[in-house]
Amino acid sequence: MSETQIQEIKTKLAKEGQMQLMRFFDQLGEAEKENLLRQIEHVDFDMIRHAMASPASVSRESLIEPIHTVTVKEQEAQQKRWEKVGREALSQGKAAAVILAGGQGTRLGFNGPKGTLNVGITKEKYLFEILLENIRRNTKGCEAVMPVYIMTSVVNHEATEQFLKAHDCFGYPKDKIHLFKQDMAPALSLNGKILMESPSSLCLAPNGNGGWFRSLLRAGLIEEMKADGVEWLNVVSVDNVLQNIGDPVFLGAAIDGGFGCGAKVISKVSPDERVGAICLRNHHPSVVEYTELTDEMRLARRENGEYLYQFGVTLNYLFKIADTEAKAGHTMPIHQAVKKVPCLDEAGNMIVPEEPNAIKMEYFIFDILEFFDDCLVYECIREDEFAPIKNKSGVDSLDTARDLYQAKFGQVL
Ligand code: UD1
Repeated sequence: MSETQIQEIKTKLAKEGQMQLMRFFDQLGEAEKENLLRQIEHVDFDMIRHAMASPASVSRESLIEPIHTVTVKEQEAQQKRWEKVGREALSQGKAAAVILAGGQGTRLGFNGPKGTLNVGITKEKYLFEILLENIRRNTKGCEAVMPVYIMTSVVNHEATEQFLKAHDCFGYPKDKIHLFKQDMAPALSLNGKILMESPSSLCLAPNGNGGWFRSLLRAGLIEEMKADGVEWLNVVSVDNVLQNIGDPVFLGAAIDGGFGCGAKVISKVSPDERVGAICLRNHHPSVVEYTELTDEMRLARRENGEYLYQFGVTLNYLFKIADTEAKAGHTMPIHQAVKKVPCLDEAGNMIVPEEPNAIKMEYFIFDILEFFDDCLVYECIREDEFAPIKNKSGVDSLDTARDLYQAKFGQVL
């Protein structure tokens, strides 16, 4: 990097009040200097400024109301027609899958990309393998192969790439699988200063699953998709073994109803289930994440006793590219969490905090729904579509997911 570029970065840091990042600069070797400067170049300073200006996204002024859900019962009469419409679109190659796999799976304590987790006991059966099979099952008989875009982060990109290569993409056509990287966000001290992990690197973590569309855009992949005739994106999480990707009925319902987006939901087992609650916020479709749900909203009931916010998102969304592109430039809310993050102190010593010392910032995928006027909220049957792996044991764990998979497919894993 040239002297002028280094000067520009220093000026920027001074303006943003982040000069502490240069504290050890003069003691670094050339490669370390380069590493640090590259990381700083990729910091989203707007995100930091927004996060520090507004304490948390939940405090947004909001009128929250229930949203209409197309229940399983309501779907029955139209199912055949929607399936036909959806299959036609899939056959014409109009839909692609986007698998969000950039998370760190901290709760699960698995030390690799989540998609590389072996779910099997009697045989090897990996999450990525299961998801690709689920796509194949849905698109069987369709003329086109559904393209698959996998979002990774710098932390797990190479491992994901190598894993898929080593397993020959589980027989899925290789030219139909594309990987792209999401952005990283720095951890901040409680007064907004970027924390350092070493004298030449920042404390960085993936910036949440909400940056997926911008990352696709930046990688030039949206243009590529459009050139290939792709109009719809089915965006899903990596961690659900029953994830229904490329469901023709859901796609057909969205196309038929003229929607620009859709969200699959399940009826919650209890108000405390850890899924985002779908609702209207200021008359627009929205999700309140389970971590941000107030008791008032969680427990609100109708006169007949039913919960007002009974439906939770499974992280299976449909987005029409043409409608989503127009919203990509809008400012997304930033979700903040105060966590314990090991970092350097002023003298350059590594400290492992006993109390939460850092703010982590994330964008959430569902916040983009609020830029739409309407959303197809589509109920699915839990036993058919929702078996997430989140925790080491107990609820939503490898054991529960394996049992649910076996019950649905009658296959011993
Ligand atoms: C998520 C949803 C929640 C939903 C639930 C269903 C969000 C923000 N939360 O909760 O509304 O009800 O699943 O199981 O959508 N990811 C990335 N990059 C990141 C962070 C996460 O790609 O920076 C991916 C993960 O790899 C995973 C998905 O996003 O595939 C969900 O992430 P996670 O943080 O596990 O969300 P949950 O708390 O489980």
